[in-house]
Amino acid sequence: MGLNIHGEGFSLLLCLVLVSAPGAWSWSKEGHVLTCRIAQDLLEPAAAEAVQNLLPPYVDGDLSALCVWPDQIRHWYKYRWTSPLHFIDTPDDACSFDYARDCHGPKGLEDMCVAGAISNFTMQLMHYREGSSDRRYNLTESLLFLSHFMGDVHQPMHVGFTSDKGGNTIDLRWFRHKSNLHHVWDREIILTSLADFYGKDMDALQEDLHKNFTAGIWSDDISSWGDCDNLFSCPVKYAQESISLACKYGYGGVTEGETLSDDYFNSRMPIVMKRIAQGGVRLAMALNRVFGEHNQDIPRPT
Ligand SMILES: *[C@@H]1O[C@H](CO)[C@@H](O)[C@H](O)[C@H]1NC(C)=O
Ligand SMILES: *[C@@H]1O[C@H](CO)[C@@H](O)[C@H](O)[C@H]1NC(C)=O
Ligand SMILES: *[C@@H]1O[C@H](CO)[C@@H](O)[C@H](O)[C@H]1NC(C)=O
Repeated sequence: MGLNIHGEGFSLLLCLVLVSAPGAWSWSKEGHVLTCRIAQDLLEPAAAEAVQNLLPPYVDGDLSALCVWPDQIRHWYKYRWTSPLHFIDTPDDACSFDYARDCHGPKGLEDMCVAGAISNFTMQLMHYREGSSDRRYNLTESLLFLSHFMGDVHQPMHVGFTSDKGGNTIDLRWFRHKSNLHHVWDREIILTSLADFYGKDMDALQEDLHKNFTAGIWSDDISSWGDCDNLFSCPVKYAQESISLACKYGYGGVTEGETLSDDYFNSRMPIVMKRIAQGGVRLAMALNRVFGEHNQDIPRPT
């Protein structure tokens, strides 16, 4: 039963898992939902149709309903191999990401990190256009993994230092409650924004994000978000951006045990929001390219 994504059983299971796993290591549910909603809105017809076809019927064509799925199954026996794919550990204080040096899982398994996973699942989805005769991959899973990991690679602290597990062991307070540096970036900043500025309304936040990359603060910047050459170099670039941001704004100025409040929130919120938007826009670009007519490369700016 646990492995069946179709039907009521899975939905119920999904709810139970969501309730019982508050500490997942990933953008909060909200972060992933926003990334996927932004992406799905930007899909061209061919990609929109492919996504629709790959999703199980009970989500009614809504990709964002399953964007947290990879967090829910990562501890299941069958999917334990996916656990290292959510992040990258870089050497302490190096503030850089080097694919050959850093992209590996436990026991040095090559490519087992979030950048390698994005290339992997993008490549698998390229088989979609060959038709359903190719059963090597489960393309529904490939789509959900790609959509989730595109979010994760944009969360700066998912490309963090090895010894503190991306900030997970740096305990501190977020306003009045206990948290840690990783969680501040996964969820606290997003949840505080939602509560303070958007009346906890995800649609309102999504609209504001959309406005900011179409006509607002990021509208000049957005054409450069697609600047990278291919399947392998694009996720490497996203990961390099993340570790730079993690060093400067995540770890920067933070001492274990301190209380983070307004100053940290106000200065970091714009970064979190931009990363969510970038994740969404780039996921759309990848899917449009993969399911479109010319599916050889990840998009270049046109
Ligand atoms: C593909 O994966 C999904 C999610 O794990 C599963 O529900 C579905 O049955 C799989 N499809 C095939 C053809 O194995
Ligand atoms: C790529 O996906 C396959 C499953 O389809 C998996 O066995 C392999 O470990 C994955 N590799 C990476 C780097 O994600
Ligand atoms: C959108 O941009 C405005 C500034 O024009 C800023 O105040 C707001 O926080 C931004 N919203 C998001 C979600 O980034």
